[in-house]
Amino acid sequence: MRTVPKIIAIDGPSGVGKSTVSRLIAKHYGYKYVDTGAMYRAFAIGAKNSGIDTQSDEAIEKFSKTVEIRFEDSKDLELAGPKIFFNNEDFTSLIRTPLATKLSSLVSTKKSTRDYLTHLQRNMATQGSLVMEGRDIGTVVFPDADIKIFLDASEEVRAQRRSSDTEQRVSEELGQVQKELRERDERDKNRKHAPLETAKDAVLIDTGKLSIKEVTEKIIEAFDERLK
Ligand code: DC
Repeated sequence: MRTVPKIIAIDGPSGVGKSTVSRLIAKHYGYKYVDTGAMYRAFAIGAKNSGIDTQSDEAIEKFSKTVEIRFEDSKDLELAGPKIFFNNEDFTSLIRTPLATKLSSLVSTKKSTRDYLTHLQRNMATQGSLVMEGRDIGTVVFPDADIKIFLDASEEVRAQRRSSDTEQRVSEELGQVQKELRERDERDKNRKHAPLETAKDAVLIDTGKLSIKEVTEKIIEAFDERLK
């Protein structure tokens, strides 16, 4: 008998611990892990490199027809996460820079960008069960997901976590990290298309005072309950 692929949707703002938790959940169930933020980042860098006008939906739509984005599992998925390829070029390290953080936040507000990546993300579910993390997975990409999780934490906690990420540690002070995080949060929450919001039927978890292990266990407990 063919089983229908399961979807675990994990949403929340930057620095809330989505990636680490999502990878652990994927490993636990043997599902594929999809970081949609990485897709927005790769798309943003690719668009910049190609010199298109990223303010223009028309230009983005045309550009997206020339784009292929795919993930490839690295040896140690838990530590390194999957590699991401943009038109067969390894973009894995390019997408973890402050520039990619900024450009992806901007280009993800455009409807044409979202239409293209949402389509790609939905296609991924035809290949098997997955844990997908992002901002609009439970609300827009998979409104019928088998479980929706919304992770949240205070701005201070999230900025603290972000500033200890290797990406930011080199060049940025905590205050600057927090300021930029606030700007991105504002943009994610207030954009016209697929803004960051909690799905009505999401399980809400405040990760502020919980360890990664505790958050992961809570999600596994909630999903196991659904699987019964
Ligand atoms: O999760 P992240 O920081 O890697 O995401 C980078 C940007 O992409 C972020 O500013 C918001 C955007 N994004 C989005 O709009 N929708 C998603 N599903 C995932 C990310």
